[in-house]
This record gives sequence, C-alpha cells and structure tokens, in this order.
Amino acid sequence: MTLKQDVPASTPTGVSPAAACAAASPADGPVGVFDSGLGGLSVLRAVRAQMPDEPLLYVADSRYAPYGERDNAFIVERTLAIGEWLMSQGAKALVVACNTATAESIALVRERLAIPVVGVEPGIKPAATHSQTRVAGVLATQVTLRSERFQALVARHGADCRFICQPGHGLVEAIERCDVDSPPLRELLTRYLEPMLAAGADTLVLGCTHYPFLDATIRDIVGERLTLIDTSIAIARQLERVLDTHGLRARPPASALLPRFCSTSDGAHLRELAARLLGLDAAVERIDIPLRPSTQHEPEAACG
Ligand code: DGL
Repeated sequence: MTLKQDVPASTPTGVSPAAACAAASPADGPVGVFDSGLGGLSVLRAVRAQMPDEPLLYVADSRYAPYGERDNAFIVERTLAIGEWLMSQGAKALVVACNTATAESIALVRERLAIPVVGVEPGIKPAATHSQTRVAGVLATQVTLRSERFQALVARHGADCRFICQPGHGLVEAIERCDVDSPPLRELLTRYLEPMLAAGADTLVLGCTHYPFLDATIRDIVGERLTLIDTSIAIARQLERVLDTHGLRARPPASALLPRFCSTSDGAHLRELAARLLGLDAAVERIDIPLRPSTQHEPEAACG
C-alpha cells in the first residue's frame, strides 16, 4: 500500500505555455514549482491532478543537482535566485518542491519573496500515525536528515516511533539520469531497505520528492511489507488552500494547459521523465539563472 497522506503546512494537450505567463492579473499568473532537478515533477503531477486549471511553471535546477550533499549557503542562494526568477516570470505563488531546499531555506524564502510560498517536508507525522510496529524507515537526502527542521519534526510528531534514517546517496543521481529501475539501482535500494525491514519497520517515508518515482521498484523489493508515505497529494491540497486564501485561483482556461518546463541544464532528461512518468510531452526551455558570488563553484558535469 502507498499512503498519500496529509502533512502540516508546510492529459496533456494544450495552448502555448507562454500565454500562461502573459498574465492580465496576478491570479492568471502561473504557480512556480521548483526543485533541484526532476523530483519536483512528482509534486507537479499531484498539483495538476488537484487543480487542472492552474497554469504551472516548473524549474529544474539540474545543472546544480543534487543539492543533497551541498552546503547550506549554496542551497539557500539557489532557492532565492530561482524564486526571484520565477517571480520575474509572473509567478503568483511558489512551491519549493524539494525537501532539501525547504529544510535549509524556507523561512528566509518566505521572508524575502512577496508571494505565498509552500514548502515540503518528510511525512513523519503520517508515518507515526500509521505504523503498527512503531518502527519506520526514512529515506531522504543527507542535508534533510541533518537539518534542524527535520530533527524538530521528529521531536514534534514522531511520537513513540523509532525512525531508521537512511541518506539516499546515489538515488537522486540515478533519477536525474531517468534511471528508476536498473539492476544497480535495485541493488542500492535493497541495501538501504533491508536493514529497515530487519529492524521491524512497516512504514517507509519517501522524504525526497525524487523518490516517488522509485515507488514501483521499491514495491518489487519489499512487496507489501512497507507502507510508503508520499506527501505530494497533501502538498497539492495545501497549495489549493493557500491560493484560495489569497484569492489567487486561476480562471478556467479556454483549452487544456500544459505546464511550462524550464531547466538550467539541457532539459533532455526532464522532457523524458515528464513524458514517461507523467504522460506530458512538452518542450523544455533552457534557462540561465547565474550563481551568485557567495555560492560555490560550478559543477563538473551537468544532468539533463
Ligand atoms: N528532490 C529533492 C528533495 O526533495 C532532492 C534533493 C537533491 O537534489 O539532492 O530533497
């Protein structure tokens, strides 16, 4: 079973995506959805299902992915720079569809950006509610797991549950290559999941927005022994509440909308994953959002 659970606040065909950005009023502008790379597509999928009339503008910072092993200053600077770029494109709200970026930057981003901001966080609370054995696994990036925000989440909502936290080294890199089921990836996942099963876990928190794309492979490995906690539907509902509160819901468009997809890399993998896993065949624009002086060095290789 996969549980699509609530977390606290934190058919393609269509018109020209550019038209969605030439907004007459703020409510007609797009919702900006951002991730270090392709993982935020799992959130975008849920948002489209919840609010098919909302124009969406997705940015994958694939040139600089993964964020999960970067330093905090880098993550904060990139999140702010991308949030500002999205605002310059008319975004009326921002979804930071990245647990890692949320963990490190959400407070500052909310302070600096003059639009509503929705973040994401691992589903610790639903896991604690659901687990019968009181043992749950958490797969997330190293940065997320080490963050004060995550520690506070476990302290506040973890109840009497024991959480076995496993950094998902290598998983984001695989998904950025559109690998969701190769033999080496299965082997890596098996190494991460077996100790959780051995410790009696009956629940697994997918604490990174890339990981829902591994759902089927995880299911092959663990069968029904683990309930998977994916918070993407809860995030979409939270966004809906936020847009309603601010009077920012879009009017129904004349014809179905395709999201506007942008990548700081060549976008080939973004296009492939959106087609394979979301059934969305849309062109990807390559965009340049430069590194600011205080951020780190260029990566050696870019992902799609
Ligand atoms: N999708 C991001 C998250 O939810 C992945 C972070 C990364 O790039 O390592 O944390």
